[in-house]
Amino acid sequence: MNYRHLGRTGIRVSELSFGSWVTFKNQVDVDAAVELMAAAYDAGVNFFDNAEVYALGKSEEVMGAALKRLKWRRGSYLLTTKVYWGLHDHVNEKDTLNRKRLIEAINGSLARLQHEYVDVLYCHYADKSTPIEETVWAMHNIIEWGKALYWGTSNWNADEIVSAISIAERHHLHKPITEQPQYNLFVRERFEKEYARLFQDYGYGSTTWSPLASGMLTGKYLKGIPKDSRANLKGYQWLQKNVKDKGRLAKVRALQPIAKELGCTLSQVAIAWCLKNPNISTVILGATREEQLHENLGAQKVVTKLTPKVMEKIDRIFGIEKDEDDD
Ligand SMILES: NC(=O)c1ccc[n+]([C@@H]2O[C@H](COP(=O)([O-])OP(=O)(O)OC[C@H]3O[C@@H](n4cnc5c(N)ncnc54)[C@H](OP(=O)(O)O)[C@@H]3O)[C@@H](O)[C@H]2O)c1
Repeated sequence: MNYRHLGRTGIRVSELSFGSWVTFKNQVDVDAAVELMAAAYDAGVNFFDNAEVYALGKSEEVMGAALKRLKWRRGSYLLTTKVYWGLHDHVNEKDTLNRKRLIEAINGSLARLQHEYVDVLYCHYADKSTPIEETVWAMHNIIEWGKALYWGTSNWNADEIVSAISIAERHHLHKPITEQPQYNLFVRERFEKEYARLFQDYGYGSTTWSPLASGMLTGKYLKGIPKDSRANLKGYQWLQKNVKDKGRLAKVRALQPIAKELGCTLSQVAIAWCLKNPNISTVILGATREEQLHENLGAQKVVTKLTPKVMEKIDRIFGIEKDEDDD
């Protein structure tokens, strides 16, 4: 496993990491979570991602219970979570980064994760109605209280991130150190264009999500929607529009000969393609089964096979699309 600095921090993260969105609680119970996390850890993964809203808190409970069983030394892994969407459909508790909510949210997450602190606490989405200054101060306090060691943004635009960094610098507060954006062969524009200055000028880190576009880049949706896949889960019907998109399916099909030529799977090419990007700190993987995880971890061996010529071929298939499904 290769380790990359998380932005300009001294922390190094495994270039492939593991997250629990959709899977934990909905598809993966505590026993399976223990197996998946152990397989990742044994392969050198040291970064495990979660969010308050995943399965409405239950995903954090599953990961917390799994970590309790795994008994890893706390220094040997990084645990992250995200807050914004909330658990209650109530004023001040939903879609917000106000101070009251952030402080209540981190306390709830830590209780569910059975941990004293998370390594990175992300603001899961930008809040257009709370002044960024209020959010920066609250995140600073959460760090000062030892409930999180670093903080980051997720799905924020570059201006909002620069604004948070500037406010923190002006008041000598802990500034955000990393973004958690979507990045895969279909969704590239924001990462490659809008965020470029964040990486160059601020050394901002990036922990990217959905490298396989929810599994679509494995090719599993080429012949319809498999019964046991996430696109078939109750509550995830919205995903069906993406996985049935004819244009996207044609691109996946066109990637097949490249994978064949390289002697690897589609998912390995798609993940290796992400790893080629030096602005990525870690690519967060998702998996419902150990075989998927092993296959995806194998992407590391494919990176050197992605020569400029191969990258050009891939670019010809996957021109930059409009980021329409950021969430
Ligand atoms: N900040 C954010 O807003 C945000 C948003 C989304 C995700 N994330 C983070 O990023 C992590 C990864 O995202 P993701 O889960 O969407 O990643 P992904 O790699 O795009 O999709 C993972 C899913 O694809 C399927 N899959 C994976 N490998 C496979 C293989 N080799 N063969 C066949 N199917 C395979 C599995 O689903 P099935 O078995 O059900 O088909 C798996 O759960 C999340 O867990 C979360 O931590 C963050």
